[in-house]
Amino acid sequence: MAASLAVSLGGLRLKNPVICASGEHVISESGVRAALRAGAAVIVAKSTNESQAARAQLAQTDYAAFDRAWTRQAWQGGAEANVLCRSGLQPRGAEEWLDAVAALDREAREADAYVAASLILADLDHAVRLARHAESAGVRLLEFNVGTPYGDEAKHGGVATERSVERLRAQVAAVCSAVRIPVWVKLTGQSENVALLAAAAREGGAAAVIMIGRFLGLLPDLETQAPVLGTNLGYGGPWALPLTCYWLARTRRALGPGFPLIGTNGARSGADAARMLLAGASAVEYCSAIMTDGFEVLTRAIVDLEDYVARKGGTAQELIGRAADQVAGYETLAARDGYWRGFVPPETLAPS
Ligand SMILES: Cc1cc2nc3c(=O)[nH]c(=O)nc-3n(C[C@H](O)[C@H](O)[C@H](O)COP(=O)(O)O)c2cc1C
Repeated sequence: MAASLAVSLGGLRLKNPVICASGEHVISESGVRAALRAGAAVIVAKSTNESQAARAQLAQTDYAAFDRAWTRQAWQGGAEANVLCRSGLQPRGAEEWLDAVAALDREAREADAYVAASLILADLDHAVRLARHAESAGVRLLEFNVGTPYGDEAKHGGVATERSVERLRAQVAAVCSAVRIPVWVKLTGQSENVALLAAAAREGGAAAVIMIGRFLGLLPDLETQAPVLGTNLGYGGPWALPLTCYWLARTRRALGPGFPLIGTNGARSGADAARMLLAGASAVEYCSAIMTDGFEVLTRAIVDLEDYVARKGGTAQELIGRAADQVAGYETLAARDGYWRGFVPPETLAPS
């Protein structure tokens, strides 16, 4: 049955559309190997770059999970939680880590999988140099993240939240023209038009784009009356899924079905992978749910997606964009006079 989950993503064939996203869970070789064993088609290793300040931030991270009433809950088992956190980068030297990723990527061939290197933009010349290093070390796939949530907070400039179409196009072009391996570009969701950023990434030579990066949030604590964890924080959760699906579908409409999109932000289950595929993603990245609930999240997502595809018939590939291509324009909707009355309190309808 596994064949029904295979998808093509640009020039790559993936055994399934489930990707282990970059995060602290894949900061070590053992974490990456656990994700490989769990069955992910691609594991994006923890991001790196040349910035010492970005690396040092790993010692200043913190993480918190909240339920829907904003009561803090245990981190473990928090897959359905609202997640607020600040993250840092791989503490090992960039070249050393890229060499380790290349070795892991060689192991991944046995599992018909890829281990991708991930670079976060700080200085562009260094990004180009590190992309070349990754390629010459043997890495087959590169993720280039120009859209972390933290660019406005990290005054050291060690991570970017790129919102300018022109700059993004130039950044992507510089990295893509320096290497022959496919480059997937990870975009911020903190933009008024993510589809335009995707178009710029495609013009710069990206093989695919990943959308949408998390947002910044602030949560005041009622007891201390101070911000939870002391700062502005990266904010994600299951609530983000419709936002991700919206931008997937809108980008598919803007760029056409030929340019591969990858969903991230809000996927917690195999059903969520199906939702993002239907919205136009060719594959789906999981991060928070793995950090809270372990690598089994990946295995469960694959099994559940397989069940869904079997139940609905066809293949995972055939799901891509099916909902996106049916999004109706408001101007086409039939009129239903007074229908809104079913959605207001009775007092609103009382005679005046
Ligand atoms: C704690 C944490 C660390 C992360 N670290 C990275 C990173 O190093 N590189 C990167 O590209 N994205 C990173 N991300 C973003 C995730 O890969 C993912 O795109 C995002 O969390 C949204 O997906 P999710 O809803 O499955 O968590 C991180 C996210 C979290 C929560």
